[in-house]
Amino acid sequence: MKRIFSGVQPTGDFHLGNYLGAVRNWVALQRDFDCIYCIVDLHALTVQPEPVRLASRTREVAAAYIAAGVDPKRCIIFNQSMVSGHAELSWVLSCHTPLGWLNRMTQFKDKAGKHKDNAVLGLYGYPVLMAADILLYKATHVPVGEDQKQHLELSRDIAGAFNHHYGKDVFPLPEPQIFGVATRIMSLRDATKKMSSSDPSDASRINMTDDADTIAAKVRKAKTDPEPLPGDVKGLENRPEAANLVAIYAALAETTKEQALAPHAGAQFSSFKNALVDLAVSKLAPITSEMKRLMSDPASIDAILRDGAERASAIADKTLREVKDLIGLVVP
Ligand code: TYM
Repeated sequence: MKRIFSGVQPTGDFHLGNYLGAVRNWVALQRDFDCIYCIVDLHALTVQPEPVRLASRTREVAAAYIAAGVDPKRCIIFNQSMVSGHAELSWVLSCHTPLGWLNRMTQFKDKAGKHKDNAVLGLYGYPVLMAADILLYKATHVPVGEDQKQHLELSRDIAGAFNHHYGKDVFPLPEPQIFGVATRIMSLRDATKKMSSSDPSDASRINMTDDADTIAAKVRKAKTDPEPLPGDVKGLENRPEAANLVAIYAALAETTKEQALAPHAGAQFSSFKNALVDLAVSKLAPITSEMKRLMSDPASIDAILRDGAERASAIADKTLREVKDLIGLVVP
């Protein structure tokens, strides 16, 4: 049986990259699989968010999942800190994770920047907590954007090392599921960087709470090159800004890049951007308004998170008991 686990950090604005690269795919998966979708608030602590902000962002991400179409009855939606097993298993797994593996993580290097000594331990151990998230539920598949690939490979390595050490296949090796045309959406201001909630420029991303005028302004300001649009996908090579906007268009239209390009071949960017604005607003406005409606009633979101945490705990507790028993921690 496939079990899906995935999550989003409640650190910044929930943006188009999170939606197209991850959450939209989750909606499709819930039809056929047992799905657990988490708001990873413990991961968010690595950047020391303001407490009030963290709480409202956590509810905002929950609202985004539901507004995008994740059904809280069919799936488990909860926030990570409500299930203490994540932190516990993370510790156990950290005792099976060589530092050399963590030293290879490019996201840590990017986030820590030049002042590695000032980076906090939580940021360094972040991928181990991510492995714990997945393995606590014995998830077999993890739908994510491209940027999480390395972390998932590490999760597989950690699961393998643990299984091997204790001579038992406790954890399945989780498979990354990276699919669609939008596995890596880039910044609208700099197509060499991924669209990210940590980018200081709000114009670099489309937030799922942006209204139509804001979306229009951001798309019109998006960086492009002076050439008209090419007639085929090959013509997007070495044109990262053009390739990014076409990928966003194709993802929103749920089509291929070829088909997205066809009606615009030879056109100037200004007309393509107008079409992109219309498409983005028509696809995103219903989600934005549903998110706003849900966020106006935080008690209902909390009730969904509470119910999700109870259901998640039932699975997590079983795994944790099995692990504790296997490794010699007494479970009286
Ligand atoms: P996070 O919060 O950075 O991103 C959440 C999801 O959105 C995807 N994503 C993107 N996809 C395409 N283009 C982009 N520009 C873009 N930006 C973000 C991410 O790939 C991700 O799927 N460590 C994870 C959260 C996490 C997790 C987990 C994920 C914690 N535990 C267990 C899966 C399983 C993270 O920081 O994602």
